[in-house]
Formats: sequence, C-alpha cells, structure tokens
Amino acid sequence: MPKLNENYLKLKDNYLFAEIAHRTAAYLQQHPDQTLIRLGIGDVTRPLCKCAVDALHESADEMADAKTFKGYGPEQGYAKTREAISAYYKRNGVEVDAADIFISDGAKSDTGNFTDLFAHDNVILIPDPVYPVYVDSNLMCGNTVTYISGNAENDFLPMPDETVHADIIYLCSPNNPTGACYNRQQLKVWVDYALKENAVILFDSAYEAFISDPELPRSIYAIEGAKRCAVEFCSLSKTAGFTGTRCGYTVVPRELIFDTSDGRKLSLHDMWNRRQSTKYNGTSYLVQNAAAAIFSEEGIRECQENLEYYKNNARVIAETLTELKIPFFGGVHSPYIWFQCPGGMDSWTCFDYLLNQIQVVGTPGAGFGENGNHYFRLTSFGTYEATVEAMRRFKQLFHVQ
Ligand code: MLT
Repeated sequence: MPKLNENYLKLKDNYLFAEIAHRTAAYLQQHPDQTLIRLGIGDVTRPLCKCAVDALHESADEMADAKTFKGYGPEQGYAKTREAISAYYKRNGVEVDAADIFISDGAKSDTGNFTDLFAHDNVILIPDPVYPVYVDSNLMCGNTVTYISGNAENDFLPMPDETVHADIIYLCSPNNPTGACYNRQQLKVWVDYALKENAVILFDSAYEAFISDPELPRSIYAIEGAKRCAVEFCSLSKTAGFTGTRCGYTVVPRELIFDTSDGRKLSLHDMWNRRQSTKYNGTSYLVQNAAAAIFSEEGIRECQENLEYYKNNARVIAETLTELKIPFFGGVHSPYIWFQCPGGMDSWTCFDYLLNQIQVVGTPGAGFGENGNHYFRLTSFGTYEATVEAMRRFKQLFHVQ
C-alpha cells in the first residue's frame, strides 16, 4: 500500500474556486430558471486580440507543413518569446535579460511548483489575505507558513517586521484579492529587508498590466537590488486574456545564489532550469508565438483596449459601492474590488445572500485567509452589460436609507 502525502489532510476539502463552482451549480440545480451573473473567479470574457489570433493561425499552418513543423521546443521557451518579454520589460523601464526568463503555462503552476527548490524548514512569510495557491502549495509539501497581516489599517499592504527573520517571502502586487498596490518606497523596504535577511522574495506580478500610474512599480526589478533577492512570476491570463490559452513567465535572475547547508553555492536559476527540463516539456509553439505577438507594439495596443474595458467595469463597481457607502479597496490599478461585507455579515454568508437574493456570484474573502472573513471580492472581468446589471441589483438590495 502506498504511504500517502498526508499533508493533503491539512488542506480545505476543495480549492476555493472549485468550492464556489460547486455551490453555484447546486444553486442552479434548485433554481434552473435563474440567470447568474458571475463576478467570482477572475476569468476574462473579452476574446483574444487579433495579433494573437493571427499568430495562432500562422503557427497552425506551420505545424501542417513538414518543412516548418515543430516538435519538442526548448523547455525554457523559444528565444523569440523570451526576447519579446525582455523588450516588454524594457518598454516599462526595467532591464531583464531574456536568458533569465522561463516561459510556462501560467503563474499558478510556477508559483506552486517553485516550492520544489526549497527545503521544508524555511521561515515562509505569506500575506493574509492572499491568492490561495501560495499557502496550499506550501502546505502540500509539509511546509509551515507564517502569516503577515494585511488589513484595513495597513491598506492591505503588509510591511516587514524588522525584528522577525524570514527565508522566503511571497508578495503579490497589484494584489489578488485586495487590489492594493505597493509603491516604490514600500517595495524598496521589502527588497532591503530580504537582502538583510538573505531571503528570497517570490513576487507575483500577474496584474501589472492594470497599473496606470507610471510612478507605481510594475515589476519588482524596478527596485534597486531586487535581482539579488527576487523571483518574479507573471502571466498573460489577465494581460492578454490567456486564461484558456495558458501562458506565463517566470524571471529567475542568475544573480540569485544561495548557500547550501554545507556551504556550497547553488543558483536558483540553474535549479529552476533543472527542475523545468526534468518535469516540463515547454509551452506549445503555437501559444508561444501568440504570446510573442501580444508583446509587439500592435499587440500591446490591442490588449490595452481590453484592459480599458475591464478597468471601466471596475469603475462601475467602485462608483456603485461608493454610492452605497460600502467601504472597499482596489478597483483602480487592479481588476479586483475588495469590499467590506455589509451589515457585519461574514463572507460566506454574504456569498449565499448575494447568490440567493440577486443571483450575483462573487468570491468570499475567507477563501483568501482569515483576514478576509468579513470581505468580499468582485472582479471586473465580466461583460460591461453583466457588470452594470449586477450593480443595478446591488443598488436594489443595499439601497442607501
Ligand atoms: C482568481 O480569480 O483569483 C484568479 O483568476 C485565479 C487564478 O489566476 O488562478
């Protein structure tokens, strides 16, 4: 009989979004005539931009011709895609060498898989609330997590406690789920702290494309010293609507060298390369060409139109919550709006209340950590029409007395 990884017993029964899908399906089974508005999981609704679609068609044609057909590609990704991403960084004022970029099928897999590179007795700081993948992937391999509190008092932007040591630090900015975004000074404090502690920051920048203020850092590498202490994960899911197409990238600078327990030097870049070439056969040629196309001037322009569409939805939600005097965070440099559950409801009660009363599906804050117990997340990734309708229903339900 196999001995099982009993760390799985420490997890909740279902992954957050699977639980929401399950509860929503149960509701629909009992109320088959109702039409739901889904503003729960951050899944996009705008189609792929023309540049990406053209690249997919062209690549499919190449695959149909023996002269241009491609088999296995480089596990790290094709040079064309890595160079396009490096140029995108440069466009945003940050130098990232193409050789430090690894193409993947998304930031979820990479943030989860990166735990392979570390021992199991590290001090791991993870904000609460946070994208549940960081916590669950650490629990799965038996790691212990130390939570750092994000709350209304610190605008959901926790800062380091200089008296506490850390080895690994997870940060996500703009943040999922709160939409809060670190400024340059705040990120500098984190980078300085990581350098002082000889720690590594695992920085998730999946929502960087939503930042419209040029003063706000879109990458941790905008901060001096970050290449000596930070890995950056990014995704095309939200930037380019690739939630179904699947493509992401992870930057592991070659400067990231740490000591082994017996004093030898190990490079995180080399370890990740070894890990990926053992367990991953690369992102498909078609998808990588589509990814390269979205980082062309034309691709960036086309993606920007979709981003503006979602930002407008975020404005519609934010305006409604302001009108209803419901306190909220996010919604400016982020597709997420994180609001305080009205009337002191806890977040799962709020989930059921919204589902039953107005058929709007959102995400209960408790799914992102204890500090989310009285918060609720809406996404701006629905259609404009659905967002407006959801907000009309909100106004009916929570009208200002
Ligand atoms: C979310 O809704 O938090 C995201 O869509 C989940 C993800 O990116 O995996």
